[in-house]
Amino acid sequence: MSIHIAAKVGEIAETVLLPGDPKRAKWIAENYLENAFCYTDIRGMLGFTGTYKGKKISIQGTGMGIPSISIYITELMKDYGVKNLIRVGSAGSYQKDIKVRDIVIAMSASTDSNINNRRFKGANFSPTANFELFTKVLKVTEEKNIKIKAGNILTSDEFYNDDSNYYKKWADFGVLAVEMETAGLYTLASKYKAKALSILTISDSLVSPEITSAEEREKTFSEMIELALETAIR
Ligand code: ADE
Repeated sequence: MSIHIAAKVGEIAETVLLPGDPKRAKWIAENYLENAFCYTDIRGMLGFTGTYKGKKISIQGTGMGIPSISIYITELMKDYGVKNLIRVGSAGSYQKDIKVRDIVIAMSASTDSNINNRRFKGANFSPTANFELFTKVLKVTEEKNIKIKAGNILTSDEFYNDDSNYYKKWADFGVLAVEMETAGLYTLASKYKAKALSILTISDSLVSPEITSAEEREKTFSEMIELALETAIR
């Protein structure tokens, strides 16, 4: 086991889906995987391995924010040899034409976190999606006729910002949506020579407040999971 993950070496697949919410990890495992078992529940941050269409896949909760996801993905790559990491999360829209329930794929992730600033001594690293996984997900969306938007997103350190206009500068520069983990994921995947991709569903909007039912949100969430799993087995 590693410090934060209780699995034995070999119990975690080379390809891992990463929801922020550990209960979502359980839900995905119960609804999509065959012969799934829970390999860790340290701090309630659940992880499962099973098979999807015959291929071994794991699902690991990451918690919220760069510090939390960094702990789990570092151990997944360093201690368990994970090679493909697909985040399945939610984001807030920064653009009028990106609506609640839309799916956004992060080609790159800008950030207001200071972690890379320190790491690269004030120079700017560009956290970028893996091209191979990005190409694969696009193929799946074409085959299944799933509409997506793709582009730059913001990975923010703050969910609640003091300045309600904070999003405007990012929006003016074409940033599609805000979440709290992808820049950390893409940076560390680069460090450990692994492949990473973030697939996000829009859960809220900073530009045009909308309300959706729990049923609608679940339908979009399922579409995103199917997209991620089909990409994972290619
Ligand atoms: N994740 C989902 N919605 C978000 C928002 N508005 N800000 C940051 N992270 C989010």
